[in-house]
Amino acid sequence: MCSIIGYYGKGSAAPILVKGLKRMEYRGYDSVGVATKSDNKIEVRKGVGKVTEVNDSENLDKLPGSIGIGHTRWATHGKVTKVNAHPHPSNSGKVVIVHNGIIENFNELKEDLQKNGFTFISETDTEVIANLLQQNYDQTSDVKKAIINTVSKLKGHYAFVAMFENGILAAARYHEPMIIGIGKNDYFLSSDVLGFIEYTDDAIYIDNGNLVFIDSSGIQISDFDGKPVKHQVTKVSKEFADAYKGDYAHFTLKEISEQPETILRAGEKTQSAIEQTSDFIKHAKTVYITGSGTSYNAALVAKYLMSKYAKIKIEAIISSELSTLPDSIEPNSIFIAVSQSGESADVLEAVNIAKKSNAKILSIANHKNSALVHESSLYLGMNCGPEIGVAATKSFTSQLAIIYKITDKLCDGCLGLDFKQISNSISNILSNHSKIQAIAKELKDVTDIYVLGRGIHHPIATEAALKLKEIPYIHAEGIPGGELKHGPLALMDSNVYVIIINPNDSTYTDTLTSASEIKARGAKIIGISDKKSDVYDHWIEIPNIKEAMFPMIEIIPIQLLAYYAAVEKDTDPDYPRNLAKSVTVK
Ligand code: G6P
Repeated sequence: MCSIIGYYGKGSAAPILVKGLKRMEYRGYDSVGVATKSDNKIEVRKGVGKVTEVNDSENLDKLPGSIGIGHTRWATHGKVTKVNAHPHPSNSGKVVIVHNGIIENFNELKEDLQKNGFTFISETDTEVIANLLQQNYDQTSDVKKAIINTVSKLKGHYAFVAMFENGILAAARYHEPMIIGIGKNDYFLSSDVLGFIEYTDDAIYIDNGNLVFIDSSGIQISDFDGKPVKHQVTKVSKEFADAYKGDYAHFTLKEISEQPETILRAGEKTQSAIEQTSDFIKHAKTVYITGSGTSYNAALVAKYLMSKYAKIKIEAIISSELSTLPDSIEPNSIFIAVSQSGESADVLEAVNIAKKSNAKILSIANHKNSALVHESSLYLGMNCGPEIGVAATKSFTSQLAIIYKITDKLCDGCLGLDFKQISNSISNILSNHSKIQAIAKELKDVTDIYVLGRGIHHPIATEAALKLKEIPYIHAEGIPGGELKHGPLALMDSNVYVIIINPNDSTYTDTLTSASEIKARGAKIIGISDKKSDVYDHWIEIPNIKEAMFPMIEIIPIQLLAYYAAVEKDTDPDYPRNLAKSVTVK
């Protein structure tokens, strides 16, 4: 979603804000803006585009002053325009705010404010908060009271930082992330630790429903009624500081390339949590697993894997769908939520629904301080470090690694896990990138790609199709092998490319037959397999490994294919149009 940042210190605020925004740009990136305060004057600069572009045209980082706020936007209310970009000043310009989330009752609030003489220039819900703050501040001349009165009127999920003309920074967090960074002589308010990690690793993870006030006397945290609350300063784990792309052209390529190491770190030091998870699953009457996007595809792999190797029935649910069937969760079940960010609103809502049926929540997540982990009885850490590329890559294989560990525990070691071998196999595929790059050149002008996989390879086909949609914007569809003749075969002709996920396992022969049927209709076949076949127009070789483990490696060439196809098409693989990494609104 959007990213917000605030800075209160002694240094020059604007360059610090711009740098922080650049590092959080993956959260939303259609427009950007910064406001700073100096000599009792607030100045706002903003524009449409990426942080670097808008900074070049508007000189965001040249704004004077040592207090400021900034924002990158992912449009919800109103088009992508300069006027709709944040920060938004109130009518008098005495308050200016940046906001992440959605104010559900903004229309009613807007009408009330209009009756009181306020005017609006943007289409955003944020401008309503700015003017409401202004109204409450004019009535009380007290920042704290103004914020308390304002949040008491807001409905929805939000986090915002407001800067007042007297130099006070105030923030509110309600179901959207907000973290305080504590520097030597300064404070940061940020959606993500990446906003300040360069300056400090001391952080306060603000609780939901808390307010923060920063002025020259320091920092105060209270609840929404203004009662002070205790807070704890924690050290941000080191790997989250690693958010540079180094020599890589893009974060996406860096993150794909990190997988030989990240799969080894998944679930590290969580042996007892894995044991407990398997114990909970064994003794549960019903087990569910949920997620959104890539995390849902990982959940689907869990369904196949646990059913085949551990004889455990587990129902995979798309998080955003659960609200349509809220009574479908059996009482006292185990509910596993998979989410890289731990912030996805759909996943959090699904967890909420499951809790109403008294489900025990277990989470597989990358961010241990996230809202999801907060809601869970048990947490399994992916430990794959920050994933900046909007399309999930390394987080997927880390989720799978944890799912494999749980399954192996459930079946008393039947998988004979050897992650070192998987890691070597992934390195081997990565080193073969030039062949994949050459195929990607051919895909540049292709409009439709189908990805076919049988059994456990079907969720990988679905994940592959998601990557092809997200990164190079190619329409792609994952097809369960046996379903080909029940419809998709009608689409096969010489304009179509089909990726066949076909390791030499029990699905091999049937899948090869499907590939031949497709080829007979003139479509081009890209075979991903450890075994060569004349049916493939292009063969992407993967190493031969244990049958159960193929899903962990067969996604890698398709991640690379999607990445290189985007590079060929000259689109930005890290920041696909219209998407955001953590979708924190419904
Ligand atoms: C967004 C991202 C996807 C991601 C999904 C779930 O839609 O664009 O890449 O898979 O959210 O994210 P989560 O953080 O819950 O795993």
